[in-house]
Amino acid sequence: MQPRSALLNVMTAAAQKAARGLIRDFGEIENLQVSKKGPADFVSNADKKAERTLVYELSKARPNFGFLLEEGGEIEGSDTSNRWIIDPLDGTTNFLHGLPHFSISIALERDGAPFAGVIYEPITDQMFAAENGIGAYLNNRRLRVSARTKMDEALFATGIPFAGKDGHDRYLAQLKEVMAVSAGVRRFGSAALDLAYVAAGRFDGFWEIGLHPWDIAAGIIMVQEAGGFVTDIAGGGRMLESGEIIAANDHLHGVLLNSLSAV
Ligand code: IPD
Ligand code: CA
Ligand code: CA
Repeated sequence: MQPRSALLNVMTAAAQKAARGLIRDFGEIENLQVSKKGPADFVSNADKKAERTLVYELSKARPNFGFLLEEGGEIEGSDTSNRWIIDPLDGTTNFLHGLPHFSISIALERDGAPFAGVIYEPITDQMFAAENGIGAYLNNRRLRVSARTKMDEALFATGIPFAGKDGHDRYLAQLKEVMAVSAGVRRFGSAALDLAYVAAGRFDGFWEIGLHPWDIAAGIIMVQEAGGFVTDIAGGGRMLESGEIIAANDHLHGVLLNSLSAV
């Protein structure tokens, strides 16, 4: 049941190479935690190093594709329909604080929509991979979104806006709607992994506002290929443009959308 496609092989191999550096650097964090300056600069270097590795590996395999990179911005490719969208380290705040929950997120966008995605969690060696028409996988296992239909049994993931982000009041109103009717809401700190976990049926749904394309592009195709629904908070398909996303199984997506779009 391994996702055998040349494209996913290229993407998973690149993620594994970049992860080696991240794991090494994560091992240093505890020492830096107690230093006066703190680990912030070190982490931002770890981030950039991982991104350079990904760009190098992916360019080697697909020399004509362009890039949208969290750290490095846009790199135009001669192939105008294919573009990599990359977050080399999603969950930076966790990484910085020594919390072992972060990921590498690589999406291939084809003609404006996510076509394939890899989300790799280095610490637990969980490789989530999906490609249009091929399905979503965790390592060798095919993924399916959860089958829960009742809100009071459903567990949701979300992201809470922090200093420097907009929408705090709007977000609190959304949280109030969901917390009142669900089995719980979790804030783990990596939007890419939140989406991968929805694809795996661990979370029944996820929503967040104020995101960037690199946080969600791989996760969108992951959830879709696992049989889930993904929209923006208006119920449309402009997740990458708006940075707003709702992902869930087909039963709960509509319910979540109604609650969130009302506020
Ligand atoms: C962040 C994570 C987090 C989300 C933030 C993102 P970063 O990405 O995905 O879960 O709530 O909005 O910025 O900064 O760790 O790459
Ligand atoms: Ca991110
Ligand atoms: Ca990042």
